[in-house]
Amino acid sequence: MDTLSSMLEARYGRPGSTDQEAEVNPVLATLLQHRTHRAFSDQAVQAEVLEQLLAATFSAPSKSDLQQCSLIHIQNKGKREELAGLVPTMPWVASCPEFFIFCADGRRIQRIAELRGKPFANNNLDNLIAAVCDVGIALQAFVTAAESLGLGCCPISVLRDNMEAVARIVNLPDRVIPVAGMCLGYPAREGFVSMRLPLSVTCHVDTYDDSNLPQEVDAYDQRRDARYSIPEAQQKYKKKYGIAEMYGWSEDKARQMSVPERENVGPYVRSHGFGLD
Ligand SMILES: Cc1cc2nc3c(=O)[nH]c(=O)nc-3n(C[C@H](O)[C@H](O)[C@H](O)COP(=O)(O)O)c2cc1C
Repeated sequence: MDTLSSMLEARYGRPGSTDQEAEVNPVLATLLQHRTHRAFSDQAVQAEVLEQLLAATFSAPSKSDLQQCSLIHIQNKGKREELAGLVPTMPWVASCPEFFIFCADGRRIQRIAELRGKPFANNNLDNLIAAVCDVGIALQAFVTAAESLGLGCCPISVLRDNMEAVARIVNLPDRVIPVAGMCLGYPAREGFVSMRLPLSVTCHVDTYDDSNLPQEVDAYDQRRDARYSIPEAQQKYKKKYGIAEMYGWSEDKARQMSVPERENVGPYVRSHGFGLD
C-alpha cells in the first residue's frame, strides 16, 4: 500500500515531516498521486460515468454563486478533427476518447440581468477573474473526479493560440472565452508524478518572503534532474541559448518565458465583450 511518505517523496522528492505512515484518505491520495495523461486506451467512457463526472465538476465552488463556467462537450467527429487540426503538435487532442472545452462564461449572467430587467454594471476585470477562477476550480474538480473514477486527463491551453478559430468551430458568442480544452479517457500507461516546488517556496507564512528562492530552486532542479533529466533534444530555443549542461526545470521555464506567448489573448478577450478595467 502507498504510504503518505511514498506519496510525498514522489511529489516533492523528499519526505514530509509529519507521521509518515499515517493513513491517506482516498481524496488526498487522488490529489497527491495526480498525473496528466496524454495516451489513452480505446476503452469508451460510458454515459453513466460521464454523468457522474460532470455532476461532480459543477459541484465546484463558484464566486458569488454566479456559476460562470460552461463546458462544450465535443461529440461531433468533424468538429473534433477541426479542433485537433489547430494543435497538430499535441496528437492526444485527436486520439483521446472524449474532448471538452472549458469556457469562462460571462454571457449567461449578463443575459439573466437582461431577463430580470436589470442593468449589468459589472463588465470589468474582476468579473473576468471570477469567471476564469470558476473555470480553474471546475477544471480541477473534473480532473480529480476523473482520476477517482480511473480515468486520465490532459488540459489543453494551447487551444488559446487560436481562439478565433475555436470560437468559430463551436460557435462561441461574445463574453464566452475558451480557457482550456480537456482530453479524457482511460490511461494507456501508468504515467508519472511530476515533482513540485517545495512548500517553503510556494507557501509563505504571514508575509511574502522569497529570499530563499535561488537556493531552493537550485536544489529543486537537482532533485528533479536526479529523477528525470530533460533530454538534450528537448532543450528549448537551442539556437538562441545553446545547449545547457545542467538543463533543469528553472532553465526550461526561463527559456519558455523568454519568448512572448499568446499575445492574441488580450485583444481577443477585449474585442469579445469583456471590459478589462
Ligand atoms: C490550465 C492547464 C493547461 C494545460 N495545457 C496543456 C497543453 O496545452 N498541453 C499539454 O500537453 N498539457 C497541458 N497541461 C498539462 C501540464 O503540462 C501539466 O499539468 C504539468 O506539466 C504538470 O504535470 P502533472 O499535471 O502531471 O502534474 C495543462 C495544464 C493546465 C492546468
